[in-house]
Amino acid sequence: MVEFALPRRDAANPDYCTGVDEWHDAIALAWAQAIASVPGARRVALLVWGDPALYDSTLRIAARLQPPPGVRVIPGITAVQALCAAHAIPLNEIGAPFTVTTGRRLREDGFPPGTDTCIVMLDGETSFRSLDPAGLEIWWGAYLGMEAELTECGPLAEAGPRILAARAAAREQHGWIMDIYLLRRRAR
Ligand SMILES: C[S@@+](CC[C@H](N)C(=O)[O-])C[C@H]1O[C@@H](n2cnc3c(N)ncnc32)[C@H](O)[C@@H]1O
Repeated sequence: MVEFALPRRDAANPDYCTGVDEWHDAIALAWAQAIASVPGARRVALLVWGDPALYDSTLRIAARLQPPPGVRVIPGITAVQALCAAHAIPLNEIGAPFTVTTGRRLREDGFPPGTDTCIVMLDGETSFRSLDPAGLEIWWGAYLGMEAELTECGPLAEAGPRILAARAAAREQHGWIMDIYLLRRRAR
């Protein structure tokens, strides 16, 4: 086990993608230094939250190492799957698409067009507050798969305030929180 300080992303960078790109370079450098600190290290294992294919840059960062390493992925359960399982709901409506997006995109672009089901991740700002709740239902989960797991669901107008209260209390209690939610437009 090798510990290293995870570089921080420059959140002040006005260009979000450039900020993330530079951040990934810095993380790759930290990995390279950590690996070099173990004489004779030949294999490295990295744990990720859920699955590295979904809103995770472990594989992008690994590709920046020189020489690029061979990588084997052991798939994990995504937070999307954990959320649907916790509520015992199907992810998509019959034959219909769904969108997975971030809190920032939900705030900036609103409910994604072309779908009635939207999953929101990476949302530290409870961005569902930016939507008109009429006709929307929400299924929310925090600390999914963990002892502290919390869930709430219902019409957004009613469940939204409950989620805000539960989220604030849990964050205060644990000092951190990771949560995800699914929004569905009710059939008209
Ligand atoms: C950097 S992304 C990682 C996603 C992960 N690769 C996956 O497969 O779910 C972090 C976001 O995933 C969601 N997340 C990951 N694990 C979670 C959990 N156990 N409970 C609730 N949300 C979780 C949250 O939306 C969090 O902001």
